Amino acid sequence: MKKLYIETYGCQMNVSDSEVIFAILGKKGYVRTEDMGEADVILANTCSIRDNAEQRIWGRVDQFYQQKKSRPGVVVGIVGCMAERLKDALLDTRKVDLVAGPDAYRKLPALLDALSDGHPQMDVQLSREETYGDISPVRLDKNGVSAFISIMRGCNNVCSYCVVPYTRGVERSRDYRTIVREACECLSDGYKEVTLLGQNVDSYRFGDVDFAGLLAMVAEVSPTLRVRFSTSHPKDISDAVIETMARYPNICRHIHLPVQSGNDRILEKMRRRYTRAWYMERVAKIREVMPDCGLSTDAIVGFCSETEEEFRDTLSLFREAAYDSAFMFAYSERPGTLAAREYPDDVPQEEKTRRLEELIALQNTLSLESNRADVGKTFEVLVEGPSKRNPEQLCGRAGNNKMCVWTDSVHKPGDYVHVSVQDCTQATLLCTLSE
Ligand code: SAH
Ligand code: SF4
Ligand code: F3S
Repeated sequence: MKKLYIETYGCQMNVSDSEVIFAILGKKGYVRTEDMGEADVILANTCSIRDNAEQRIWGRVDQFYQQKKSRPGVVVGIVGCMAERLKDALLDTRKVDLVAGPDAYRKLPALLDALSDGHPQMDVQLSREETYGDISPVRLDKNGVSAFISIMRGCNNVCSYCVVPYTRGVERSRDYRTIVREACECLSDGYKEVTLLGQNVDSYRFGDVDFAGLLAMVAEVSPTLRVRFSTSHPKDISDAVIETMARYPNICRHIHLPVQSGNDRILEKMRRRYTRAWYMERVAKIREVMPDCGLSTDAIVGFCSETEEEFRDTLSLFREAAYDSAFMFAYSERPGTLAAREYPDDVPQEEKTRRLEELIALQNTLSLESNRADVGKTFEVLVEGPSKRNPEQLCGRAGNNKMCVWTDSVHKPGDYVHVSVQDCTQATLLCTLSE
């Protein structure tokens, strides 16, 4: 029996992939450990989205190497997006034994076996078909309440700044029958919430089933199973998706709709293929159909040639869209992308940092305003577990994705409770049990 330790970086899709890797290697007798110090195989499931994500992982590679030195026989592998991007360069460090890209996980048992003859192993072949659709993931979440379900892989969008199409390959959708089956398994295993994952869920299509159709099928698995999804692309989110959300009470009313920039010239240069006006029309449609829908976004500041004025358009769009929350980033040039090949990365680092700080400060005030507007309201919340700050309190999310905390000694993770909002911070709704 060999012990397998996986450290996961990057997006939720990587978390979901680590669950697939545990399933594949579990069948071959590997058991999971959370202690790197006792592992026979150490894997890092990596992210390449920004340079600082990769730098962090390089730091870890040195630490994994220390394990190899102190415990001969330990295997160190790099898998995921950074494995796909850097390939041999990772093996050239002589600190890792194994490199496997996101579509090579079925080969991991064979690659690990082949290591016994002393040669490093690599498989970075991308696939047009692989979806791991038939594999039941070994869930890694601790509380057994909320599960990820990958519904597609890859991305066909080629936004000019983005490395994902290169690390994850072409877009492919997973058979909806295996998705619905997995949602049913989650339900019978006691899960109360599933999050459907893809880089662009709105372009899901398998046979005649599009994303709106898939959402409805998953929502019908059980009225007690909450359904979430991420990420939506503004150019693709359809009226049918918005209307399907409105029709099923168990589809959570929250949309993560990354805008990236509020300026049309920058959006064009980013190859996002929508305009500010198009984006705001989608927001208006969402608000019209579901006035209580939570809305969050991603944005990049300091993209190639972005002027101060163009950055101000992102600020004004944030105000107009009145986001509940946002992930905000300074542009990081990724080798091999269209932007890296064609546009100089010419906004100075200090300027990127200043813009980022200004945008974050604005979002902080918007988040607080949005939370204040919920004071006095009652929400149905799915209990996730004890609150981090105060063990006498529980925490969980409302449908709109806002984190709620309240004092409670009765309920347990997986229960649905009603809470009423008494007060708030910028990050949390402070509630009491109402019933
Ligand atoms: N598929 C999703 C995004 C996945 S990457 C979408 O299209 O919205 C998550 C976020 O990382 C992106 O939304 C973007 O804001 C950010 N990001 C991607 N590439 C980046 C880069 N080169 N520099 C800075 N941020 C980046
Ligand atoms: Fe990257 Fe654009 Fe695809 Fe999102 S849609 S993963 S930002 S290329
Ligand atoms: Fe990172 Fe790959 Fe996800 S680059 S954000 S782990 S798809």
